Amino acid sequence: MKFVTMMALGCGLLCAAAPAHSQAVGAGPAPVRILIAYASATGHTEQMARAVAEGAKQAGTAKVTLKRVADVSEADLLEADAIIVGSPVYNGGMAATVKAFIDRWPFEKLHDKVGAAFVTGGGLSSGEELAQMSILSAMLVFRFVIVGGDTALAPFGASAVVEEGKPAKARGVDAAALDKARGLGARVARVAARLRAD
Ligand SMILES: Cc1cc2nc3c(=O)[nH]c(=O)nc-3n(C[C@H](O)[C@H](O)[C@H](O)COP(=O)(O)O)c2cc1C
Repeated sequence: MKFVTMMALGCGLLCAAAPAHSQAVGAGPAPVRILIAYASATGHTEQMARAVAEGAKQAGTAKVTLKRVADVSEADLLEADAIIVGSPVYNGGMAATVKAFIDRWPFEKLHDKVGAAFVTGGGLSSGEELAQMSILSAMLVFRFVIVGGDTALAPFGASAVVEEGKPAKARGVDAAALDKARGLGARVARVAARLRAD
């Protein structure tokens, strides 16, 4: 009887000392939230966006939201641990709709979010990396932590060249570009989870 009373008392003390936010055993950490926001007029960048989402979901630890830039709310931006922005290359840079999207981000509220970029362009040396860098440099202004792609062939994020050097029937986003996109999503999910654990 005495033993039972002591156990009950001990448990009472321990339970009272446990922090209110502690998770139930086995519940695991909350998923990282990844927002993928993109513009796409003819579908190439959208294909890449879907592959980025696939990659981000691979580990099963991320909650992924995929939206066109016009549909992204401020709440979407604020609740995301990572924001991955995709754009077609227009005249050597990001599309105007993507720039307008970034220009309405709330300043000082996105500090330390993980950021990454992906683009699709028609030609080689026609602005792919400039478009990626223009997205990433805007993210740096907002003090994001920038993440590139998962391999040495995608250092600035994922990209696809959809026309130049391809016969007419092979035009579009190829398997290698989709792999880079999946790799980008997976790496962002990994890095965002590590940063949140710190
Ligand atoms: C207005 C306009 C400007 C473009 N400028 C470039 C360019 O500077 N460099 C390039 O490589 N491709 C350029 N392109 C081609 C697109 O970037 C390419 O077709 C892209 O994959 C389109 O993406 P989407 O299918 O997601 O709309 C341009 C296309 C348009 C419509």
